[in-house]
Amino acid sequence: MSDFDLTGRVCVVTGAGRGIGRGMAEGLARHGATVVLSGRTRATLEETAAAIGDKAIVVTADVSKEAEVLALRDAVLERCGKIDVLVNNAGVNAIFKGIERTSLREWQDIIDVNLTGVFLCCKHIGGAIGEGGSVINVSSVAGHGGLPRSTPYCASKGGVEMFTKALALDWAKRNVRVNTLAPGWVDTDLTHGLLEHDVHGKRLLDRTPLGRFAKPLDMAGGVVFLASQASAFMTGQSLVIDGGWGAE
Ligand SMILES: NC(=O)c1ccc[n+]([C@@H]2O[C@H](COP(=O)([O-])OP(=O)(O)OC[C@H]3O[C@@H](n4cnc5c(N)ncnc54)[C@H](OP(=O)(O)O)[C@@H]3O)[C@@H](O)[C@H]2O)c1
Repeated sequence: MSDFDLTGRVCVVTGAGRGIGRGMAEGLARHGATVVLSGRTRATLEETAAAIGDKAIVVTADVSKEAEVLALRDAVLERCGKIDVLVNNAGVNAIFKGIERTSLREWQDIIDVNLTGVFLCCKHIGGAIGEGGSVINVSSVAGHGGLPRSTPYCASKGGVEMFTKALALDWAKRNVRVNTLAPGWVDTDLTHGLLEHDVHGKRLLDRTPLGRFAKPLDMAGGVVFLASQASAFMTGQSLVIDGGWGAE
């Protein structure tokens, strides 16, 4: 049996209706996992489920709302009987502007989803993961280095990186591993406008050594690795998949 095999594993993926979360859910299912697809929008989750087939289960939840995270956990335990893997992928970045024009509300909206959502999902869903399980928090190259006009986003992703290290120390004794997956630029709804931009998009492309933006499925191999026994001795680390962005 392959070290990457996920047959019989129950994986919860937040933000699985589109973009990177969908690519990750497809990759996990392809390696045998049962995938619980979560997000706020049932229609997109159902589309992902239809593409995956009978290994997919849909449960809606807003990760920034504690009651909805608790209901997600209870629904998964009721339908699947256990949780082995949690992929905290749901995230937002609504603004590109300097701090002078960033309101407290805008700051809080990003922190609520990207950082508090990771805290809530780890606390309630990660807390229910059994021995030998894995938590994967989706960070970003913005969690390793600053991006211009992105203070809330960078703070949230930097927070996810350090939160992950601290939780990895606490949960090593349960043999539950906690790592981040840090993508570079991936063409999704979140970034499409920027990546298509004549000036800014070209600058980002020129700065990416592999000379292209990623597709969501480029993140699938990394999440399968972190979810599976192939990474059994890895915890508290960040797997950066960025086309060479961080090598500079
Ligand atoms: N694209 C990139 O270049 C890039 C690079 C580095 C890191 N990332 C990170 O990768 C993750 C996915 O990004 P993406 O590019 O795939 O973005 P996307 O296409 O905009 O998808 C975001 C996903 O998150 C869900 N979501 C947003 N707010 C939520 C909430 N409050 N509760 C539950 N689900 C929520 C959305 O579903 P609903 O709207 O239905 O809830 C959607 O499925 C994010 O954490 C992002 O920061 C992206």
